[in-house]
Amino acid sequence: MPDIAYVNGTFGDLADAVISIEDRGFQFADGVYEVIVAHERRPFLLDDHLARLEQSADGIDLPLGGIVGDLPSIINEGIRRCGYTDITIYVQITRGVASREHAYPSDMTPSIVLTFKRKPVSDSSLRKNGVELTTTTDIRWSLCSIKSIALLANVMIKNDARKRGFYDAIVLSEENDVLETSCANLFAVCDGVLRTPPADGRILHGMTRGFILDVARKERIPHEERAISLDALIAAEEAFITSTSIDILPVKCVDGHKIGTGVPGSTTRRLLSHFPASVLAEEQTPCANPQSP
Ligand code: PDD
Repeated sequence: MPDIAYVNGTFGDLADAVISIEDRGFQFADGVYEVIVAHERRPFLLDDHLARLEQSADGIDLPLGGIVGDLPSIINEGIRRCGYTDITIYVQITRGVASREHAYPSDMTPSIVLTFKRKPVSDSSLRKNGVELTTTTDIRWSLCSIKSIALLANVMIKNDARKRGFYDAIVLSEENDVLETSCANLFAVCDGVLRTPPADGRILHGMTRGFILDVARKERIPHEERAISLDALIAAEEAFITSTSIDILPVKCVDGHKIGTGVPGSTTRRLLSHFPASVLAEEQTPCANPQSP
């Protein structure tokens, strides 16, 4: 079964999908996106992802008209056509095609692209042993809550970390607080309290982050959205990172400092147990590509 794409109303093989080089997404990264996962063909946290897509579009003054209302049926059709069980669904909406000028016309038609690929199986050894992170200064823009396709700073952060042998890097604020990694949110357990940095413009308000906070609320796990200094992270009992692609990955060490005992802690394991069954099944499955995603 091939990976498939949807481009402005038409489904087809991903390999055949095309978009104009005058699309402002290509020229200016003028667009927003979501990564959604379907577990056993059911999109996870779909309404939350669609709400964030609308907020992101609002944040860059990109009128979506009825697009978001159409997305659930497009997504269901894509799931049906691709035939995979666990699926990574990428949704990108750009301002559309126009002659290359910074100022855009007021009457543009957005370009809508979705892709449907088999969700890569996570590396069970990373889940079991945790990831090694480094830290870096913040070279990103100041509107990180907008899920913009302009990800060059994040790409540079991740690739620099990988070149230095780390899984990813944690972005530090000017105050030396930890914010998030290049593509995941960060949690720590400090003095028995689950803590994550507040949802301001310096982080993406992750859907997995929201899911974890909901579980913590329901399970009465003490938690707070509060700044975490780098020192507090290094002294934490546990830490983990979250995103749609990785679900939860424990953090083993930061810049060589072991977090807690250096193995996934009880809160991390407890939270992981609340994810859909196919995430938990991955625990048993070895992975072909240990570095991804
Ligand atoms: N990344 N922070 C950043 C900067 C991210 O890019 C992401 C997600 C997250 C976690 O958000 P969520 O839980 O909604 O996936 C946090 C996606 C998966 C990506 O760009 O591939």
